[in-house]
Amino acid sequence: MSRVAYVNGRYVPHRDAAVHIEDRGYQFADGVYEVIAVAGGRLVDEAGHLARLRYSLGEVGIPRPMTDRALAIVLREVVRRNLVKDGVVYLQVTRGVARRDHGWAEGMPPSVVATARPKKQPTALAAKGVSVITVPDLRWKRCDIKTVGLLPNVMAKQLARAAGAFEAWMVDDQGNVTEGTSSNAWIVTRDGAVVTRKADSAILNGITRTAVVEAAAAAGLALQTRPFSVDEALGAAEAFVTSTTSFVLPVISIDGRPVGDGKPGPMARKLLGLYCEKAGLGE
Ligand SMILES: Cc1ncc(COP(=O)(O)O)c(C=O)c1O
Repeated sequence: MSRVAYVNGRYVPHRDAAVHIEDRGYQFADGVYEVIAVAGGRLVDEAGHLARLRYSLGEVGIPRPMTDRALAIVLREVVRRNLVKDGVVYLQVTRGVARRDHGWAEGMPPSVVATARPKKQPTALAAKGVSVITVPDLRWKRCDIKTVGLLPNVMAKQLARAAGAFEAWMVDDQGNVTEGTSSNAWIVTRDGAVVTRKADSAILNGITRTAVVEAAAAAGLALQTRPFSVDEALGAAEAFVTSTTSFVLPVISIDGRPVGDGKPGPMARKLLGLYCEKAGLGE
């Protein structure tokens, strides 16, 4: 089966899919994106992702390329043409193509691309747990926007890989964890409170984070949206990350030191179950 991509109104073979060298996404990282999980051929929390895309576009002043209804049709079509049952769909909108100039002329048509690929659900990883390293958070002050400007994130992820870790947790100037390079960071205190940073401009408000916050609140769990330090995380009962591709994934070590008893804990397991139930996913 050959892969198919959506590029500016056309479905093209993936190997031929291209945008112009003067696309502002390519030259300035002037664009935003979404990654949506596909489970059983269905887009998980599609409305939440499309709402966040609207937010990101609005914050950087890129016009909406089409209605949500039309975007939803494109996403479904990309998933269908690539025969994806369980996987991810990627959607990117940049400001468009123009002669290189930092400022832009209003009214240029945004570039829209979408791809889809199969991906296994993170079940095996959740059973084992993962390790993270910590790195300074070198990003800009608008991490609430899901921009394609990901250089600090990719550099931190590469450091994690080199260290044999799954993820890097980024740490702000106060010594508090902001989030992972492509996931939100959480801990569970020794007295059972579930803690994650509040969604301000220091983090991306994950769609999975929101779903887990809602699920935890609905289940009557003690929830605190506040910063936590690396030391607090090391002394916590449990830690975990959430994301579209990881769901709820236990963190069993930070910088090579165990969290809790160094094994996936019961709260992460419970929240994974609640999340899967809420999102209509088979665990
Ligand atoms: C920096 C960052 N934080 C958090 C997340 C998790 O967000 P979501 O749950 O919407 O996938 C992502 C996802 O890629 C991310 O890139």
